[in-house]
Amino acid sequence: MSEAFVTPGEATLSAGQYDDMVRSAHSQTEAFWLQQSRRLTWQTPPSQASRSDFLNDVRIDWYADGFLNASENCLDRHVATHPDKTALIWEGQDDGQREVLSYRVLHARVCRLANVLRRLGVKKGDCVAIHLPMVAEGIIAMLACARIGAIHVVLFGGFSAEGLAERLTDSAAVVVLTADVARRGDKRIPSKTTMDDAITRCGAASRVRHVLVVPVTGVSVPMQAGRDLRYEDEVAREAEECPAERMNAQDPLFLLYTSGSTGRPKGLVHSTGGYLTWAAFTHAVVFDHKADDIFWCTADTSWITGHTYVVYGPLANGGTIVVYEGLPSWPEPGRWWDVIDRNGVTVFYTSPTVVRAAMREDDTVVRSRSLKSLRILGTVGEPISPEAWHWFHDEVGKGRCAVVDTWWQTETGGVMITAAAGCVVPRPGAASRPLPGVEAVLLDAQGTEITGAGEGLLCMARSWPGQAMSIWQDHDRFRQTYFTTCPGYYFTGDGARREEDGYYWITGRVDDVVNVSGHRIGTAEIEDAVATDHEVVESAAVGIPHDLKGQGLVVFVVPREQGVFDPEAVNRAIAAGVGRYAVPEKIYVVRDLPKTRSGKIVRRLLRKIAAHDLEGLGDLSTLADPEIVDELIATVKAQE
Ligand code: WT7
Repeated sequence: MSEAFVTPGEATLSAGQYDDMVRSAHSQTEAFWLQQSRRLTWQTPPSQASRSDFLNDVRIDWYADGFLNASENCLDRHVATHPDKTALIWEGQDDGQREVLSYRVLHARVCRLANVLRRLGVKKGDCVAIHLPMVAEGIIAMLACARIGAIHVVLFGGFSAEGLAERLTDSAAVVVLTADVARRGDKRIPSKTTMDDAITRCGAASRVRHVLVVPVTGVSVPMQAGRDLRYEDEVAREAEECPAERMNAQDPLFLLYTSGSTGRPKGLVHSTGGYLTWAAFTHAVVFDHKADDIFWCTADTSWITGHTYVVYGPLANGGTIVVYEGLPSWPEPGRWWDVIDRNGVTVFYTSPTVVRAAMREDDTVVRSRSLKSLRILGTVGEPISPEAWHWFHDEVGKGRCAVVDTWWQTETGGVMITAAAGCVVPRPGAASRPLPGVEAVLLDAQGTEITGAGEGLLCMARSWPGQAMSIWQDHDRFRQTYFTTCPGYYFTGDGARREEDGYYWITGRVDDVVNVSGHRIGTAEIEDAVATDHEVVESAAVGIPHDLKGQGLVVFVVPREQGVFDPEAVNRAIAAGVGRYAVPEKIYVVRDLPKTRSGKIVRRLLRKIAAHDLEGLGDLSTLADPEIVDELIATVKAQE
């Protein structure tokens, strides 16, 4: 351990110190980020921060001559200083299922699994897929991969076999970890058999040599001899020590698939050194991390929020995390409030969807809980309305907690814009201010920077350590997706408004991405799935405002034969091609879609019609068939 690191959370930043950080990150960028990298323990500390370049081929380059191991940063260095501190508290959804793992024990479990993976032939740079619900083994698996330099690819339990197959093939994963059967309230999710189906669908493209099955529910599942292995048998054979691989800062730590406006999901590649620095820095600064915090981020580990704020941020900072397997209000309303009270949670980080759902419950549900351990509340994934913000602040925070709305993306690795707790005065409904070193800008349609107050495309003028390095196996797609709309800038896909004093309000995606309860869904993916039904000529998926989910998905479909077409077929196609979570609110069977004379679907019109927003439909005379608009309005009205 060659260099002392700044003990995170040692002192709470004052607003003044925070402003100093913003200034020095802006004017002494290299030195600032080198200093922040010292939050980590490096095998070889980097001598340079960034050589990134948003032009030409695009290069995201952080700490390039540094070497480190992420699992050593999340485990070994804390085992050395406080081995008995609780690293992870796990609670299952059924009463009494609880497990507390100290840093020493978590380290031992990670090492055992890392040894299993090595024995199974997993090499540095290989991909390992993790398809597990919220059990400790999911986190152990991520850290075990990091330990041996394998790239983890965490896959959502709600993906269909087809969705899993696509990601297994693209990543060329060599080992998969899955559950026997996962629980979700009353529902049972057949993880193992869905994974079997997915591997079969990969056919000759599959590189999966072994499937490790974690006994989550403990039921028996079909096992393929030679390929499938029981997790508990395998880890029992291994030692509790495993030497950590020496990783370059620019070696990938993980891939995470996310949806865009076009094409198939893309595997964003996050680096080891830059990403982990960003995870540690943002976790410490945004949530004012203190050594005795009990940090509960409710996100599933299959989303970036789970990567950064369930696992890497808090554990890099030596914190204590809570992992809860179950739903907010199952088996009874207020379940999550009980998890907070039982474990003394101090920082609670969740989504606006969860807040909106809780608001609809009887006030006695939240008022009958103490919640006195809470200090900081956070939300992420979608805008939070001022009304929901105030409810969260007043009813959950009892008026004494900081509330941080955090804006960021899979691509950004960690929080970018927020009112960091204790440092920036929040404005309910606003994402608020860019973190130190985040050079947010607004551009107009011509690509010119807007100064002062205004509204435009939200872009970043400079790289930051957490920025994804590439799209797996497709750097050109990375360049085209994020760096061509506004040359010289990273384009987020979001629009935003800025106030005179620099506060940002996110106005939402400006592309064809729909955000349903924080799930990012590409409309192209939905349309591709619908197109697998041969009775369909074409379809268009759009987002509409939704009270509970933020946005809802609506699909307009043009069948080969009107009258005999069964809209249920659309749901089946989406459930099979993408997953049940993407099944739309409404399906409208229509004769045609509104198109320009050159054949381009006018989505803006569909969005307005689906949302019953019929004011200002604009000039319809440019449509190939203007009469279709009235037909569409009538179809939507008939199904109201
Ligand atoms: C998109 C990114 C960041 C982890 C979870 C989602 C939207 C995210 C906010 C917020 C308004 C938000 C944006 C962004 N978004 N946070 N606080 N306020 N919008 O990650 O799946 O990559 O989605 O979510 O539209 O682009 P993601």
